[in-house]
Amino acid sequence: MFAVHLLAFYFTKLKEDQIKKVDRFLYHMHLSDDVLLDVMTRFQAEMVKGLERDAHPTAAVKMLPTFVRSIPDGSEKGDFLALDLGGSKFRVLKVKVSEDGKQNVQMESQFYPTPKEITLGNGTELFDYVADCLADFMETKNIKHKKFPLGFTFSFPCIQTKLEEGVLLSWTKYFKVRGVQETDVTSSLRHALRKHKDVDVDVLALVNDTVGTMMTCGYDDQRCEVGVIIGTGTNACYMEEMSNIDLVEGDEGRMCINTEWGAFGDDGSLDDLRTEFDREIDLGSINPGKQLFEKMISGLYLGELVRLILLKMAKKGLLFNGKISAALRTKDKIETKHVAAMEKHKEGLQNTKEILMELGLTPSEEDCIAVQHVCTIVSFRSANLCAAALAAILTRLRENKKLIRLRTTVGIDGTLYKTHPQYPKRLHKVVRRLVPNCDVRFLLSESGSGKGAAMVTAVACRLVSQRKQ
Ligand code: GLC
Repeated sequence: MFAVHLLAFYFTKLKEDQIKKVDRFLYHMHLSDDVLLDVMTRFQAEMVKGLERDAHPTAAVKMLPTFVRSIPDGSEKGDFLALDLGGSKFRVLKVKVSEDGKQNVQMESQFYPTPKEITLGNGTELFDYVADCLADFMETKNIKHKKFPLGFTFSFPCIQTKLEEGVLLSWTKYFKVRGVQETDVTSSLRHALRKHKDVDVDVLALVNDTVGTMMTCGYDDQRCEVGVIIGTGTNACYMEEMSNIDLVEGDEGRMCINTEWGAFGDDGSLDDLRTEFDREIDLGSINPGKQLFEKMISGLYLGELVRLILLKMAKKGLLFNGKISAALRTKDKIETKHVAAMEKHKEGLQNTKEILMELGLTPSEEDCIAVQHVCTIVSFRSANLCAAALAAILTRLRENKKLIRLRTTVGIDGTLYKTHPQYPKRLHKVVRRLVPNCDVRFLLSESGSGKGAAMVTAVACRLVSQRKQ
């Protein structure tokens, strides 16, 4: 009995020591609530800047008008096609919206690969490929020669002057296609589609994935007025009062704003919070100096952040007895899915051991505990930062409505949010702590980004047909 107690004591002590060691090494990544409230205030200022006519040109956070003015009201109906490009996977969808007493959405979809030749190639090749995939999908579903309205989810920052038009500001994440920046993406898509004589689609909406997510959730919950993506990249949109949007004429009603919060910090405003690892990630990326907030948060970078930390700790002799494998030195060898696996509640420690061994390391029990804690700190920081920016949006919504308490729904999607075991719980908890005067419902939107493009198109069609009546 005594021996069992002793063993338990020894184990707890061992764990505590490892955790302390990692906490000490990564103290800069621990963000207190005071710091998070400060980040929240900074983001509030960024939002104001992005919306103002004079400040907009130099604003890091672009606050892009989307020309989406209302969420679905449930009376939409019809068959729509949608393309979803820019997330973890490229997807073509057919969405059937019916209004048979209760709202009903049926969806069929197909994933297509996006090889490096496409994501790092040239514009003509990219849009030809997208059009070819759509044609292939229509062929498989036997729906060629039928006319469809189409919504295009294009998850990159675009300046829009209409719902169906958008000029790409810059590529983000893992895309860098030549000859597309500063051009209208829907007209390039239409051009590529014209090469298919048997495909007859009308591109009616260009939609960011955050907007798609908000619209999909809005169909189920009329209170939804925010869309968030925490996936390969990260971003949010929300409904803003027209009177606050200098870039669009008119003061009546509201319009959805795509914040492009991933670029928060690109003007140096988060430099005090960025660590040596954040700087290294940025320097090794395809867009140095850009999307600095995103690089501290999203799925494309989290695994690499963990790898850089482990490498440094090993070099300092704090892990693996100072031994470093070739894999640990190799960029992108640790992915976000590994971080999620290492943080799993029960199997986490065993997963950590297996993942480290696959990286050619021979970890001790202590090493595994420490590595697991590194993952926790990195993914916790990510959730904390997202929570701070989201809290800023919620506060803005509450102030716009001049309410003391706000009750609202946030539509949310993204691979990191969906696949990391602890992420949603942590995010919700911090948001509720930062904005105690907001009652927030988080609504996960399954395939929201793509389905949402169809929803936007459905709303556009409804508005057109209402106007004709
Ligand atoms: C990047 C894109 C943004 C998108 C987000 C999530 O931040 O710039 O448009 O919404 O990734 O996919």
